[in-house]
Amino acid sequence: MKALVLIGGFGTRLRPITYEIPKQLIPIAGKPMLYHVLDLLPPDTEEVVLATGYKAEVIARHVREHPPPFPVRCVSEAEPLGTGGGMRNAGDGMSDPFLLLNSDVIAAIDVPALLEHQRRLGGVGAMTLAEVEDTRPYGVAALDPTDRIERFVEKPTPDAAPSHWINAGCQAWRAEVLELIPRGRPVSFETEIMPKLLPRGVYGYRSYGFWEDAGTPERLLNAQRLLFDAGRVGAFRRPEGSTGSRSVAADPSVRATGARLGPYVSLGAGVTVGRDARVENSVLMDGVVVGPGAVVSGSILGPAAVVPAGARVERSVLGAEPRA
Ligand code: GDD
Ligand code: MG
Repeated sequence: MKALVLIGGFGTRLRPITYEIPKQLIPIAGKPMLYHVLDLLPPDTEEVVLATGYKAEVIARHVREHPPPFPVRCVSEAEPLGTGGGMRNAGDGMSDPFLLLNSDVIAAIDVPALLEHQRRLGGVGAMTLAEVEDTRPYGVAALDPTDRIERFVEKPTPDAAPSHWINAGCQAWRAEVLELIPRGRPVSFETEIMPKLLPRGVYGYRSYGFWEDAGTPERLLNAQRLLFDAGRVGAFRRPEGSTGSRSVAADPSVRATGARLGPYVSLGAGVTVGRDARVENSVLMDGVVVGPGAVVSGSILGPAAVVPAGARVERSVLGAEPRA
């Protein structure tokens, strides 16, 4: 079994951090989002192909330096080709069936059960579905009594949503699906290819585990909370001399003597948190400095961001300014 991971979006909703760093490399619960996504793959996964575009070289370097437990190949696109175009561009040599994963989906999905669902029901593929209250940012599916998807509407208005079951960004497809995607131009898999696939049989696989799309600051922090609560953490570690909760994942080089940390905090390499400072429900990337007595809450601080002594940073995303 091979897996194709879509990793080419611009991450616009996580700017300014994503001007410098692709969203898939933002660490949550102690390791980059992408590595939590790869945790979903069965251990016998033969190869993972990363369909990259934006910041492709940053991702290629990162996976070279921090190899996941599977053989990984990066195939990048010069211009953004969209979800379908990215699949087509990177999909040569996929297995039949293959797995398709969005790279910003943090979830507990039983991938072997998805594959079994696809094998048992047939058709051209199976799509994991998660139940959410607000369907507006997602693709929404309506199922018939045999779990076959009858209708699929990408990002519907609330009155046009046929259900609360959404495309969870984890699918099993027969290889023939790739051939239906035109080459060499942008293609949305959800709006252009899905309507062509429905008559051939696409089945919904309902997943009841936690699910979040970490594409906005609020949802990224919620994804981090879900991972901590599920114990799916890079390494639980609170720096020596700090106080606070258990749900802290700090690089060993972090200095935070006299600081109060947690719940739900990731601290990257070289982070310094001053005395009597408080950090909760946040991600502090490498080299962030939080001055004594400062408060950081509900925020994502990009590499080397500085919070002055006594300052309050709440519900914010701080990063480097875009390069000219
Ligand atoms: N290679 C490549 N090229 N990948 C891309 C491109 C592109 O041009 N555009 C987006 N991607 C990647 C993103 O990095 C992400 O992993 C995935 O494709 C989906 O793109 P998003 O931009 O995150 O889409 P979305 O969250 O609005 O909607 C999609 O995901 C939802 C679940 O999280 C859709 O598939 C929805 O149907 C789905 O419900
Ligand atoms: Mg997304």
